[in-house]
Amino acid sequence: MQDCAVMRMILVGPPGAGKGTQAARLVDTYGFTHISSGDMLRAAVKAGTELGHAADGYMKAGKLVPDDVVIGMILERITQPDCAKGFMLDGFPRTRPQAEALDAAMATAGVHLDAVVLIEVPDELIVERGVGRRTDPETGAIYHLKFNPPPAEITGRLVHRKDDTEVAIHERLVKYHSETAPIVPVYEAKGILRRVDGVGTPAEVSARITAVLER
Ligand code: AP5
Repeated sequence: MQDCAVMRMILVGPPGAGKGTQAARLVDTYGFTHISSGDMLRAAVKAGTELGHAADGYMKAGKLVPDDVVIGMILERITQPDCAKGFMLDGFPRTRPQAEALDAAMATAGVHLDAVVLIEVPDELIVERGVGRRTDPETGAIYHLKFNPPPAEITGRLVHRKDDTEVAIHERLVKYHSETAPIVPVYEAKGILRRVDGVGTPAEVSARITAVLER
């Protein structure tokens, strides 16, 4: 694991861009604390908590969970001790109110964002990535039936996400373009946006991310 100074960063990109795949690699390389709003919400749904009940219907339909639900969950999470040396947010913020709430919380804490990595993948590749995705509930590993096939011995336990249908992926893309893409220029204006081409093998994309982080 490489030594890295305190780093507070965001991974942003369309659904299926490879945020989770790249986050796992960045954890291996730098030991970042990875916070995925999607993983937290899915865990809440699985556990049947109040938050999970509130989120479930939105997620299945590919819609965004209301800001007040998600903002509270993430702002509480980044105050935990394992975030003192930085964190890597994946899937948050994805609306202007979420970005503003994060800014305000960080300003209050006297810290700042170091980088926002935008993984760019054209819409026409997104549906195939999502429909073929399978995740391992035991390890959290992310596979793809064609691009990153799972080992034969674990195929029986793999999960196909409820929002990885063609219809839900289209809805998620619409939300990405209308709600999330508009926050990108805000980070660009602050000089912390790093654009990365997300087309290529996961290893190639990782190398591009490492290069922009170490620039
Ligand atoms: P979330 O879990 O955040 O989903 P997402 O943003 O749609 O992203 P994904 O997890 O689908 O994709 P990814 O970019 O991580 O790609 P992955 O690495 O898996 O959110 C889910 C839902 O929760 C939302 O729709 C919403 O309802 C709710 N939610 C979450 N956060 C919220 C928030 N802040 N506000 C409101 N609601 C919120 O890769 C995808 C596939 O492609 C995999 O199969 C992988 O193996 C493959 N792959 C990866 N890289 C490559 C590559 N380079 N080449 C080929 N295949 C690749």
